[in-house]
Amino acid sequence: MFDTKNFPGAKQYWHMGKLYDWDTREIHTMSHVVHYGSSVFEGIRAYESSRGPAIFRLQEHIDRFFRSAAAINMKVPYTKEEIIEACRLVMRENRLHSAYIRPNLYYGYGNLGLTPRACPVELSIACWEWGAYLGAESLQTGVHTLLLPWKRFHPSQINASVKLGGLYVQSNIFATEARRMGYDEAVFLNLEDRISEGPGENILIVNGRTVKTNAKEESVLEGITRSTALELAEALGYKAEVGPITVEEFLNADEAFFTGTAAEITPITKVTDSRDRSLGQNDWKVYLIGEGRPGRITMELSRLYAGIVRGRVPEYEHWLTYAYDSVEEARRTLNAKPLGIAKGALTRY
Ligand SMILES: Cc1ncc(COP(=O)(O)O)c(C=O)c1O
Repeated sequence: MFDTKNFPGAKQYWHMGKLYDWDTREIHTMSHVVHYGSSVFEGIRAYESSRGPAIFRLQEHIDRFFRSAAAINMKVPYTKEEIIEACRLVMRENRLHSAYIRPNLYYGYGNLGLTPRACPVELSIACWEWGAYLGAESLQTGVHTLLLPWKRFHPSQINASVKLGGLYVQSNIFATEARRMGYDEAVFLNLEDRISEGPGENILIVNGRTVKTNAKEESVLEGITRSTALELAEALGYKAEVGPITVEEFLNADEAFFTGTAAEITPITKVTDSRDRSLGQNDWKVYLIGEGRPGRITMELSRLYAGIVRGRVPEYEHWLTYAYDSVEEARRTLNAKPLGIAKGALTRY
């Protein structure tokens, strides 16, 4: 019933303490979240490593998950430790070597008034194989972005630095517009007409030996890859800076890149400025970032990041949580054929 064409490798998901076959539907159409986007979520990646799947900065993702829940007054029905264990469990049960993990907390079926007074808070966690978010080539060749005249939610309107499901209607519309017009990704402004971020990515720029990004006051999500990149930049001897980024600064930067769990570190090589919508698409000015090729510092960070997430850089081992308790268990399980899964709930957690 639910094909997994766009969720490769997905076999089971976790919902409120139980595992369900991917084909099982666990939500009523009159659930609060379906109507009002009353949810919070996380996007986490696990990478193949010599010790089995390594989940990158899981603790930080779960900490942000709780901050997101607090922003919408949701009480999380599990502890952080239980959610961490459930993430490890879904990885094991799906027998995946690498995956994108999606915890989702939402108001379920109860009442449909805007105040979800009778709606239970429910948690589900799924995982599947998700390749490079902006396309297989993007990490090496870079992307062409569309700078939109549209403005991301401002912190004076709502807490836009956490992952509230409803906020993503904006990302959905903006990203769809960029792709419809033939670009790889969108870039949004903030209310002050400075650079905000992408629909699912933070933006960092490089000038000389300084790597810079903007803060949450500039209408950005506090990305975990963003802070990882800043920390790595400092470790490599560059200067890390946080402050507002003007459009001119962005367009004239030596280098620019997106960061995100899904997008990882993706170079931005070209920007089309569509802010003046009185012009036709052919008249929008196209800017090359630097020389229009992925920048040297960007690629240095990207290579280091790729090594760290796969457990190849011992200094950053503390950022990894392994899905299996031991290498032997990982080997035994992942080399074995996937187990047959019965329909319906499997009460193993
Ligand atoms: C709007 C937005 N900005 C930035 C990011 C990058 O955040 P992170 O690096 O924590 O994945 C994401 C993805 O989670 C996002 O949805």
